[in-house]
Amino acid sequence: MSDTTHFGYQTVAEEEKVHKVAEVFHSVAQKYDVMNDLMSGGLHRIWKTFTIAQAGVRPGFKVLDIAGGTGDLAKAFARQAGSTGEVWLTDINESMLRVGRDRLLNKGLAIPTLLCDAEKLPFPGNYFDRVSVAFGLRNMTHKDAALKEMQRVLKPGGKLLVLEFSKVWEPLQKPYDTYSFSVLPWLGKRIANDAESYRYLAESIRMHPDQETLKRMMQEAGLDRVQYHNLTAGVAALHTGIKF
Ligand SMILES: C[S@@+](CC[C@H](N)C(=O)[O-])C[C@H]1O[C@@H](n2cnc3c(N)ncnc32)[C@H](O)[C@@H]1O
Repeated sequence: MSDTTHFGYQTVAEEEKVHKVAEVFHSVAQKYDVMNDLMSGGLHRIWKTFTIAQAGVRPGFKVLDIAGGTGDLAKAFARQAGSTGEVWLTDINESMLRVGRDRLLNKGLAIPTLLCDAEKLPFPGNYFDRVSVAFGLRNMTHKDAALKEMQRVLKPGGKLLVLEFSKVWEPLQKPYDTYSFSVLPWLGKRIANDAESYRYLAESIRMHPDQETLKRMMQEAGLDRVQYHNLTAGVAALHTGIKF
């Protein structure tokens, strides 16, 4: 019998989760950016700006953006790394990656894009100065394996940045739940004609490891000096760690 895992609140076979996550992102790809702005009231831009600042990418850096989707982080990193740098936009989902690649090309940025699974990265070890994953880890089946891969491809001294939804400050829990389970699926239905994917979003956030648990997972994956910053009262958190 195959192993089981979570897809939102459902318990499913591991292979089924991969297919279901793929369906979600094929379905939302075209409306992904507009939905992000609407759902977060633009806050995701501030969280990403903070992440980009913490990454401190300099000219010539090699950077891997995992689960990069429509390319917000890769776009900023490519500008900072410049012509001597190497920035990769990668994702497991072709629809998301295509939107990202076209978006970057429209901004005059031709960077390598690659379809790949974070759990089996097709890159050599000790290669990247920075590895980032924004709102992607939550969707991965074997988060521990993915984190180990991220650690493997980093150079010694390199930094991993994990931006993800997290555990919100307790007093805000109730209104946040109401918003997540009522407004998000409603918006999803109205804008992307897909309430289910946005119900999955709300559920997957609840099932994701909280700040301290993710910190421990990153340490177990071999990262050092792991720390996190809560963003908007813990709606999201940025975890960083260094490979020694
Ligand atoms: C919510 S989107 C985030 C996109 C982008 N990073 C951002 O912050 O806007 C999550 C992305 O994770 C990708 N993803 C899910 N599982 C993955 C895996 N195992 N390996 C790589 N990417 C994965 C999805 O295809 C999707 O594009």
